[in-house]
Amino acid sequence: MGCYILYIYKSISQEKTYELACRLGKMLQGGELIALEGELGAGKTLFVKGLAQGLGIEEPVTSPTFTLLQLYEGRVNLAHFDIYRLPVPEAIEELGYEEYFYGSGVTAVEWSDLIKAYLPEQYIQVVIRRDYDQEQGEYRLITFIPHGEQMDILIEELGKNAGAGN
Ligand SMILES: Nc1ncnc2c1ncn2[C@@H]1O[C@H](COP(=O)(O)OP(=O)(O)O)[C@@H](O)[C@H]1O
Ligand SMILES: [Mg+2]
Repeated sequence: MGCYILYIYKSISQEKTYELACRLGKMLQGGELIALEGELGAGKTLFVKGLAQGLGIEEPVTSPTFTLLQLYEGRVNLAHFDIYRLPVPEAIEELGYEEYFYGSGVTAVEWSDLIKAYLPEQYIQVVIRRDYDQEQGEYRLITFIPHGEQMDILIEELGKNAGAGN
């Protein structure tokens, strides 16, 4: 094995998180899966909103409590899973997950840690953690962990672009 790529971004505002996600969205061609982890209120849905913007989706991304899957059309289509209320991991099969996880659009999954066994070989794990310090007040640490060589390249690029843009 070679080296491991990891990109950690400190987001001091919701706008920064949105912009970062949008930048990632613009880099996606379709076929990628973004697996989002983080507690309630971490910023997963906000991240998906920015991602959608980057994918050229005009319809607003919402977060209705009981909708496990929402589909959006754009330059690249987006399947947005929020599986917080999935009763058991196996229930993902009833949502026809394969069509999206292995499809030509982009898939974003909030609470992806609940269905680890169903994730494809290549995906981007995004872990959002709330933190606090005296200087910034509340902020978010957003960690990108690529899985698979293609995703390594993407995250390396994202790190370069984001670094330059901030
Ligand atoms: N730096 C930040 N990044 C993301 N969200 C932030 C940030 N600072 C404050 N917030 C707020 O945190 C909340 C995140 O909500 P949401 O995206 O729905 O979380 P989740 O989907 O993880 O439950 C929003 O109200 C957002 O405005
Ligand atoms: Mg959410």
